[in-house]
Amino acid sequence: MKKFLRINLFLATVCILAMAAFTACEGPAGVPGEDGQAGVDANETCKKCHNSTSGMVAKSKQLNHSLHASGEAWLEGTRNSCAPCHSNEGFLDVIAKKPAKNKYNASAAALTDPTSFSCRTCHKIHTAYDSTDYAFTTTAPIDMLIDTTKTLTLDFGTGSSSNLCAKCHQPRIVKQMDFNGAPTTAYTAITSYRWGTHYGTQGAIAGGKGAMEFTGAETYANSAHKAGATCASCHGAAASGISGGHTFSVVNEETGAINTNGCVKCHTTGTSALTTKINNTKTEIDNLLNQLGAKLDAFLEKEDGAYTGYIDLYDASANSNARYKNPNSGNVALPTVDNRTAAALVNFMLVFRDKSHGIHNYPYTRALLKNSIAALP
Ligand code: HEC
Ligand code: HEC
Ligand code: HEC
Ligand code: HEC
Ligand code: HEC
Ligand code: HEC
Repeated sequence: MKKFLRINLFLATVCILAMAAFTACEGPAGVPGEDGQAGVDANETCKKCHNSTSGMVAKSKQLNHSLHASGEAWLEGTRNSCAPCHSNEGFLDVIAKKPAKNKYNASAAALTDPTSFSCRTCHKIHTAYDSTDYAFTTTAPIDMLIDTTKTLTLDFGTGSSSNLCAKCHQPRIVKQMDFNGAPTTAYTAITSYRWGTHYGTQGAIAGGKGAMEFTGAETYANSAHKAGATCASCHGAAASGISGGHTFSVVNEETGAINTNGCVKCHTTGTSALTTKINNTKTEIDNLLNQLGAKLDAFLEKEDGAYTGYIDLYDASANSNARYKNPNSGNVALPTVDNRTAAALVNFMLVFRDKSHGIHNYPYTRALLKNSIAALP
């Protein structure tokens, strides 16, 4: 009896919460709603998802272990230019309002009490109150932010969930982008330590779009992954330890191993062949990235001998021992940068911050790096 009462209380509460969306909220039978329409049967609506076997609980627990839910990026959700990719509210706001990409800001209303990513960020939870609510909040092709001077469409295919991921996991605007001028003309816009692309460049690399493609000996082609696999095929494969599922992490946090449950659906020649392929790809791309880094070494910041992806300009809080513009050590100027060097710096950052070491899109990444290396003196 007590249990029964609790269930009724639960339904009463959710009735109030869900009032706008459905007409009546009784038990299974359903009674006519206020407006005279037939009532909605909870078994047909809420219980499609709110039951113990729908996978909702598992997805929820997994998401809690994802940086999407546990990270701190959403704390930037109070800033209008960061919120579009850093908070649930900011993301839903730009999907609804479609701001122009040179003013890609979330509205003021989305900046109060921002929250970290949840089911609602990616699925239309509690819209129709039935199983269609697992539809994605967006899968539209993306007009990439990296260049505000032209339309640059990134598209993984109609309805592809990769477009959802890449709406956030794309590089941001490179200030005063004009690398189409003469290669050796000076490029003067590098004035900050954080100049260049933003962090989540995966969409650009996986989709083979948005980089500064130098013409050269290598042709630009995409990996079979672009058309055949979604981000979730690899990142959301069957869980293994704390990886896969809705953790969206392809790397097992504890062991550092790649979760290959998604890979083996296509790579059917056995684990050892796949491991060799992974290692060869990573080694080759890491070597090429370091070769490009060596050519750009005069500009790039390093920490303990490793590139950080930033320009080695003075920044009081983030780079106080910088080589250039450091008021504490003679205010040495940054060496002159020309258009082609600036473009190569962008390419370096795109691959560096992609963090897949070539696995997202090996042929494209390889061509980008090789042609960039060849284009520099
Ligand atoms: C498409 C699946 C789906 C359907 C259908 C659905 N829900 Fe939900 N509901 C969810 C998800 C997902 C959450 C969030 C769970 C989480 O954050 O872990 C949720 C959360 C809730 C919550 C907690 C408060 C909140 O809003 O986060 C209540 C209450 C609730 N749902 C009631 C209902 C009622 C009542 C119905 C039917 C009228 C319903 N739901 C239909 C998926 C669904
Ligand atoms: C609304 C924006 C947004 C969407 C949509 C989104 N992400 Fe993210 N993602 C982020 C942000 C921001 C972070 C960093 C979170 C933090 O550190 O607090 C992140 C982190 C990650 C990480 C962890 C990165 C690391 O360095 O360990 C992975 C993996 C990831 N996302 C994959 C995906 C996949 C796959 C999808 C699509 C299914 C997706 N993301 C959709 C914004 C988004
Ligand atoms: C176009 C979407 C987008 C916008 C706009 C955006 N970010 Fe991000 N940001 C991301 C994604 C995606 C990640 C996670 C990348 C990853 O883990 O590879 C991220 C990661 C970060 C990180 C963590 C970096 C790290 O490696 O730990 C910081 C800090 C950050 N963003 C700050 C900001 C700030 C500040 C703004 C606004 C001035 C901003 N971002 C605007 C998409 C965006
Ligand atoms: C970062 C985006 C993202 C977030 C956050 C997210 N999902 Fe998903 N979800 C996806 C993607 C992408 C797929 C499709 C996976 C695939 O194609 O294998 C999916 C698939 C699902 C499915 C299977 C879909 C179906 O039609 O049967 C369920 C159930 C689900 N998610 C529930 C949830 C719940 C519950 C939450 C919150 C705890 C959540 N998701 C949060 C992106 C997300
Ligand atoms: C073919 C499989 C595959 C596809 C498709 C794929 N990824 Fe990855 N991704 C990987 C692997 C493998 C790594 C890690 C490589 C390593 O660290 O050894 C990775 C690394 C990452 C990282 C760095 C954080 C981490 O977990 O190491 C992010 C973020 C990410 N991918 C996001 C995406 C997004 C967004 C998409 C879609 C636009 C995508 N990935 C498509 C396999 C894939
Ligand atoms: C949709 C099918 C599919 C999935 C899923 C998939 N791959 Fe692939 N992958 C291919 C195909 C096809 C090729 C090109 C032929 C080849 O080299 O085997 C390829 C190539 C590769 C290569 C060689 C470099 C290249 O791109 O040509 C590596 C490394 C690789 N995949 C790793 C992975 C890893 C790791 C995963 C899972 C995290 C994965 N793949 C998931 C189909 C897939």
